[in-house]
Amino acid sequence: MASPYPEGDREKVASKLPPALQQELKIRCAELGLDIKDAATAAITTWRTSSQFERDIDTSGAKSFSTWLPLGLYDGFKATCSERGLSYIQGLVQSIRAWLDDNPSPKEVTRPAETRRIVVCNQKGGVGKTTISAGVAEAHAEADGIGAKCLRNFVESLTEIELERLNRTREQLLAVVADYTAGGQRVLLIDYDPQLHLSNQLGIPAISVGEESLVTHMTGEPRGDIRDLVVPIEDPRFGGRLHVLPGTREGFLLDSKLALTAAQSRGFQKETALERALRPLEEDYDVIVIDSPPSLGLSMDAGLYYARRRPNEKPGRSGVLIPVQSEDSSADAYQMLVDQIDDLRDDLHLEIDLLGIVVNLFDSRRGYIATSSLEEWHNLEDQAVIAVVDDLKEQRETVRLKKPLLAYVPESKQANVMRLIVAGAGK
Ligand SMILES: Nc1ncnc2c1ncn2[C@@H]1O[C@H](COP(=O)(O)OP(=O)(O)OP(=O)(O)O)[C@@H](O)[C@H]1O
Ligand SMILES: [Mg+2]
Repeated sequence: MASPYPEGDREKVASKLPPALQQELKIRCAELGLDIKDAATAAITTWRTSSQFERDIDTSGAKSFSTWLPLGLYDGFKATCSERGLSYIQGLVQSIRAWLDDNPSPKEVTRPAETRRIVVCNQKGGVGKTTISAGVAEAHAEADGIGAKCLRNFVESLTEIELERLNRTREQLLAVVADYTAGGQRVLLIDYDPQLHLSNQLGIPAISVGEESLVTHMTGEPRGDIRDLVVPIEDPRFGGRLHVLPGTREGFLLDSKLALTAAQSRGFQKETALERALRPLEEDYDVIVIDSPPSLGLSMDAGLYYARRRPNEKPGRSGVLIPVQSEDSSADAYQMLVDQIDDLRDDLHLEIDLLGIVVNLFDSRRGYIATSSLEEWHNLEDQAVIAVVDDLKEQRETVRLKKPLLAYVPESKQANVMRLIVAGAGK
């Protein structure tokens, strides 16, 4: 995998590590397809920002170890060691140990029998579909074990007001997060929206009009393998497990192309077009997350069909996740979406699971409008509110910087809200 740092921006550093740890690092990097220098970079960067670091790991028998780090990182690392009263070898051993624990061997992670499919949708614009799609995908792909720890601390630190907004007690939430199993999974994040917000926000080039794309694969005009369109997110945080299928502006024509193809080709079923296109990818991924456009057209029917519960799939694993806002117009939009889901269920005899409502951009300064609307979301009979998200500056910063949220601020409130959504989805 390509390194996110050009070779010229690195410096060679020499230190010491116990041979057993060096060997473990070498094997783990090979298993995860990572360069040792990228793993060391991630290890040191995370250790420096983490407030939970171990003390006094045995460093006896340490032998020389050298690697290449981004310019300045080693100086910063040495300063952190001094602040924490640690030798450089102890600091390095702690960093590498924590990284190994956070990036387990892929063999240790259980793979689901059926790829989990999460379709994030709402035809209302700007409610947080792209934000939540990316965060949910990142939470599934980050190292196994890391999210569970952060999430538990987060729930412990929620204020009474925050718990009240969620309409849950701390004990109820702790029970939900106790069996948090996300992390360490191979994840595909799909930009299904021709506005290309997801691709742009992650700094990934969109697919040009006229090129091979998800649209050509859905409308029966593919020239190559859909797997060739997928792009990895290079950040070491995700250990090569997070991939993106970039969007294309041609998606603006998808509804009419689907209608035309159905009219021209006998037996072409519009609703199954997304599923047919994505099937070849499913064996490579444990979770597929779809960022839907703000529309309710034929392409959305195909998205909803893809979210349906498959035979032998447990309820609540795949389905639709719906971000909303605490305002009246969101309620009208929600009703239209649910009506469309009901129509599809009846017409095609499907089960489509509603994984939960995320009330996003909650602004308590809006007083009664916000609180009464939140109460209405809690009163819905068909699904639960699984998270209430404030307007958080980290979210806007991460978009501006074109960085994945869970890599930019992994221990922030917003990152933990994403993990909370994953924990609550389908429960
Ligand atoms: N909780 C939040 N805190 C701060 N900013 C947020 C939050 N959620 C979303 N935003 C910002 O609000 C804007 C709209 O969010 P987003 O793009 O996720 O919505 P969307 O539903 O995908 O929109 P569209 O319908 O246009 O695709 C973005 O600029 C995003 O960064
Ligand atoms: Mg969007």
